[in-house]
Amino acid sequence: MAASQQQNRSILCWIILGALVLTLNLHYVLLGESIVGGLFNSPLLEPLNAVWRHKTIQALQNEGVPPSNHTEDLGHGLQIDIYEPEHDSSDARPAALYFHAGAYALGFKELGAGTMRFLAHEGIVGISVGYRRSTKKGLDGSVDDAARALAWVREHASEIGVDPSRVFAVGDSAGGHIVLALALGLGAASKVNPPQAVIAGWPAVGTEPRHWLTYCADEFDMETCKEWADTPAQELLNGTAAGNNVFLPPGKHRATEEGTHQAIEGVLSQIFMLHGKRAYGMLPPQYDAERAQALSPLARVVDGSDDGSCAARDEPPPVMMFAGLNDTVVPFGQVRRFAEAYRRTAPVSLLAFREADHGGGGANTQSGRDAIRIFLRRHGLGGAPGDSLRGDEAVEAAKRAFRVPPAFDYEFAYDEDAHANATVYVDPVSSEGGE
Ligand SMILES: *[C@@H]1O[C@H](CO)[C@@H](O)[C@H](O)[C@H]1NC(C)=O
Ligand SMILES: *[C@@H]1O[C@H](CO)[C@@H](O)[C@H](O)[C@H]1NC(C)=O
Ligand SMILES: *[C@@H]1O[C@H](CO)[C@@H](O)[C@H](O)[C@H]1NC(C)=O
Ligand SMILES: *[C@@H]1O[C@H](CO)[C@@H](O)[C@H](O)[C@H]1NC(C)=O
Repeated sequence: MAASQQQNRSILCWIILGALVLTLNLHYVLLGESIVGGLFNSPLLEPLNAVWRHKTIQALQNEGVPPSNHTEDLGHGLQIDIYEPEHDSSDARPAALYFHAGAYALGFKELGAGTMRFLAHEGIVGISVGYRRSTKKGLDGSVDDAARALAWVREHASEIGVDPSRVFAVGDSAGGHIVLALALGLGAASKVNPPQAVIAGWPAVGTEPRHWLTYCADEFDMETCKEWADTPAQELLNGTAAGNNVFLPPGKHRATEEGTHQAIEGVLSQIFMLHGKRAYGMLPPQYDAERAQALSPLARVVDGSDDGSCAARDEPPPVMMFAGLNDTVVPFGQVRRFAEAYRRTAPVSLLAFREADHGGGGANTQSGRDAIRIFLRRHGLGGAPGDSLRGDEAVEAAKRAFRVPPAFDYEFAYDEDAHANATVYVDPVSSEGGE
């Protein structure tokens, strides 16, 4: 009672503060000229994130998702939450490091609660990493923390009952970028051995301000659409380049040239402001385009080397990826381009969910979680399974706590051999119910 009154009061305080800021036009001072761009650099971001975290932890509790068993402090502000398999306390269990979503600007390690409980019920030690969200310093801070957490888990494996040769990484969206950086040894990740496998959901594969064109009508048509080319963004904005832009999500903006240009501007201002140069020279001073390119998984696998070996790694780990064909944040074409290039050195299982937006399909669905189970077992990373049903329930409960909007349901059977190094298109189950 008292707690909820206090909460209402704090929400009221935020509303009053917000109104005051807007009336006094303080948002120009706080956010700069661009609301969207400025927000990510605003001093308001941290307190907003703290409020969101607080409310999310409460919601997880209300939905009955058990919190982590313990938190380790790795120093320099880096903390990890450890989720123990309750049925297996042996001393050499596989471990998953999890990197949450949040555009590198928002989010917190508790966002991993559902997925980590799901893996814990599979006999895997779940470790959610509270990495630095580092828009102010570029992406180096996030990748640096990820590498440090991975090294720590291996060094302290015996203390936490983990087999150091069976540590893999899971990440969503921005976290998907981080796990691919670990796989490829980008930035600080070059100092640690890669994880044994990587599962990347809707990963931000391209962090550099560049455009990718495909010179065919339907970029999703694998057979006819084999020619790709780099094109500077400016050329495209000026209308001097031809072709479809794989950075663009599908939609009616593709119908006209003007619509396409407007959408590209939108994509640039929403996504690339975080990582590199923005359209029309609106480059926040702290973003360094060269660093953004150095940390771009797409840049590494596509331009990395002439012989096509994608990584500085001798043995890049196998990858499972989830993507939405209707993803409005990370366009599918980027993800597919990455998968095609990475496949030259290690298998990539890309599960492409039709009609799904960012976060749709994948581990948020029963069949996606089944696919993860099979993928992990194939690579020797499966644990001693416990109560899988409770693992699935934990994800569903966490989705309610995070208020994930209702999405399509998918039902498919992952084929260990056929799908291990393939792009699989998965259709939603008809909402009419029944054929
Ligand atoms: C970890 O937490 C779960 C959920 O609260 C609990 O069931 C389990 O006993 C705990 N395991 C250990 C080793 O503390
Ligand atoms: C695009 O247009 C801008 C502004 O008109 C011009 O400065 C720039 O040189 C053009 N770039 C290309 C590649 O055509
Ligand atoms: C997904 O994209 C396709 C192709 O552009 C479009 O026809 C379809 O309506 C979209 N679906 C949703 C749910 O937005
Ligand atoms: C994965 O498949 C692609 C094409 O389908 C093939 O060229 C590549 O050699 C395969 N990679 C591995 C590591 O098996």
